[in-house]
Amino acid sequence: MTEPYKPENSKTEAPKVESPDTETKKAEKGPAMKWIDERLPVSDFIESQLLSYYAPKNFNFWYFMGALSLLVLVIQIFSGVFLTMNYKPDAAKAFSSVEFIMRDVEFGWLIRYMHSTGASAFFVVVYLHIFRGVLYGSYRKPRELLWIIGMFIYLILMAEAFFGYLLPWGQMSLWGGQVIVNLFASVPVIGIGLAEWVRGDFVISDVTLNRFFAYHVILVPLVLLLFVVLHLVALRQVGSNSPDGIEIKDHKNSQGLPIDGIPFHPYMTVKDLFMVMVFLFAFSFVIFYHPTGGGYFIEPPNYEVANPLKTPEHIAPVWYFTPFYAMLRAVPSIAGSQFPATMVMFGAILIWFFLPWLDKSPVKSIRYKGPITKIFLGAFVVSFIGLGILGTQPSSSLATNIAQVLTVVYFAFFVAMPIYSRIDKTKPVPTRLTK
Ligand code: HEM
Repeated sequence: MTEPYKPENSKTEAPKVESPDTETKKAEKGPAMKWIDERLPVSDFIESQLLSYYAPKNFNFWYFMGALSLLVLVIQIFSGVFLTMNYKPDAAKAFSSVEFIMRDVEFGWLIRYMHSTGASAFFVVVYLHIFRGVLYGSYRKPRELLWIIGMFIYLILMAEAFFGYLLPWGQMSLWGGQVIVNLFASVPVIGIGLAEWVRGDFVISDVTLNRFFAYHVILVPLVLLLFVVLHLVALRQVGSNSPDGIEIKDHKNSQGLPIDGIPFHPYMTVKDLFMVMVFLFAFSFVIFYHPTGGGYFIEPPNYEVANPLKTPEHIAPVWYFTPFYAMLRAVPSIAGSQFPATMVMFGAILIWFFLPWLDKSPVKSIRYKGPITKIFLGAFVVSFIGLGILGTQPSSSLATNIAQVLTVVYFAFFVAMPIYSRIDKTKPVPTRLTK
């Protein structure tokens, strides 16, 4: 007879997953695995990190983004290695070496489009990943450090994308790089020297290309990998948050297992694997049918070789930087100095680090937060997308005025948070997970 249906939020305990005792498991292992385990604790690692790691049973769409970020990281490293085999980090050869990869290297076009689409895909999944954290209050205690490590990853990712964009040595590589490096020059007193130090020259040149290549292929990926490992270790230490903002560790059964949790493997790995397939379909579709992303993933001026004597009509960074670029253009220079605008732009990124301490709400998840928080969050999303769109457009006085309003809305979300999160009405949080 089949078991009667029990809703997911049933108050009865989740079915217990019996794991065979250690002796049986040892007997099941082949001699090769036994040999390895005596020297390297592979089975213990799998057991502790996958089989007996419990995750909240009501993970939803937003929880796929972490796994997808890992997948894109692997795609970028893999495609990057193959690109490096034919790319020449030399101002006289870089552009044509990329053309050579596209036209003459076997499947070079595929490798290059995997890498350029991968860069945009990275930011898509990371932005959704961050947004999930905001929705469910995943930055709150005890996950502050996990969040801060995540923010460092975001900064590192931006640096990696910025250095990489100079490498094809196209018009936008050169002029986009120029705009960003010149921001350093706006720092009072030390600015000019700082910008020279970053470039290694008085202008962006072969020297700059060489050092950006070294950062892009070695230094930054190493630091990125280190931070991703730290991110995962911190996650395992505190455990995953749930869409309800409830800790599954707070409700354990007689065997000490979280009642509302399920083992990460096989339940979550199978779910993640399904999403990996969906993602790869979408990713392949872009690579095969829209590899330049309509000019947003690879901008048209970048099909022209870098020319320091010809400024492109309209300089814009790649889409994932445009919200910050729009802010940079929105802030007027004061006494001819661009420093205030630079501060606003970097401030817009750095303020994210303080989120765990700005949110004073008694509840974590948006599900139980009140209308004021929802309005501020909605306005923030509109401002971020709006700024992103404005950043891709040529500047005009109307666009600048709109960008100024949106910049204020963007900052208001953070700056006013200690007030509205405290006074906003919240709903009672259930003791057990819901859907
Ligand atoms: C290379 C980039 C990144 C990778 C590979 C990565 C990977 C992961 C993975 C695999 C998880 C667990 C699965 C999940 O909850 O989705 C996770 C959780 C988390 N990540 Fe990331 N992440 C990255 C960037 C970031 C960034 C930029 C932030 C933002 C600050 C962030 C904040 C978090 C938080 C707060 C959690 C815990 C979420 C929860 O338990 O609700 N991560 N990350």
